[in-house]
Amino acid sequence: MRLKRKDLLGIEELSAEEITLILTTAESFREVSEREIKKVPTLRGRTVINLFYEPSTRTRTSFEIAAKRMSADAVNISVSASSVVKGETLKDTARNLEAMRPDCIVIRHASAGTPHMLAGYVGCSVINAGDGAHEHPSQALLDMLTVKEKKGRIEGLKVAIIGDITHSRVARSNIYGFTRLGASVTVAGPPTMLPPGIEALGCKATTNMEAALKDTDVVMMLRIQLERQKESFFPTIREYSRLYGLNEEKLRKAKPDAVILHPGPINRGVEISSEVADGPYSLILDQVTNGVAVRMAVFYLLLGAAREE
Ligand code: CP
Repeated sequence: MRLKRKDLLGIEELSAEEITLILTTAESFREVSEREIKKVPTLRGRTVINLFYEPSTRTRTSFEIAAKRMSADAVNISVSASSVVKGETLKDTARNLEAMRPDCIVIRHASAGTPHMLAGYVGCSVINAGDGAHEHPSQALLDMLTVKEKKGRIEGLKVAIIGDITHSRVARSNIYGFTRLGASVTVAGPPTMLPPGIEALGCKATTNMEAALKDTDVVMMLRIQLERQKESFFPTIREYSRLYGLNEEKLRKAKPDAVILHPGPINRGVEISSEVADGPYSLILDQVTNGVAVRMAVFYLLLGAAREE
């Protein structure tokens, strides 16, 4: 089986079958990272370029490790040390990188739609590693994989996504993914951080965090995306934390076995307390572990399986 597409640009465009294929493939790759020699030869001779125009700890490292565990050559471009700072356009950067014959470019950019533009400029595969407030597909895939691993299913679960929904690409990709696999998603946040019409994506929306938490199976907390806000969306951090921060008391509204997710980086004491982030139901580090398996699966399905066929 392979993905019958050149690029992974968003979850919105994926069918439930394609998401399930990626998750099942990731499950089969999970054990590679537990081996003493963490490597399979599947992508030997393939080249992956990581082109990150925004900061990243988890996503960039995870894509690089995933490529290397598949025996691909991985190259990281630091945009601050590249010719982008001399004014080179995305199109010229893309055409010059393509001239070196990579098989895949992984791109993160502050502007929504940039990976889609890049995919039109190059013949190699393009993976969206986060575009503005639009989508972060590999994050949603690793989130779904983590929930599936702990709960055994996604269909029928209640998922609450809480925080800065307006500026969150993670929220958008997860709404598409979880609803497509049959979960019920509720988003919650201050009125200034809940985009009007968000229900059109298939979720419910509320400004009442405790209502969103009621009897939920999965709680996904989001960071306030200060880097995407041009104005203040709430009076003070303290006020935000009081109304929308997750602590042990608020968590009691959820099901007793509810699991906690956060894409990271976390702001301890703002959107989540340390007791909850480090507590027994937190899957935050499992998400990071699963990120490598998901990215190995995406590389395999875009590059490796295609070559075998
Ligand atoms: N979750 C996530 O995208 O983290 P980074 O910004 O560190 O890559």
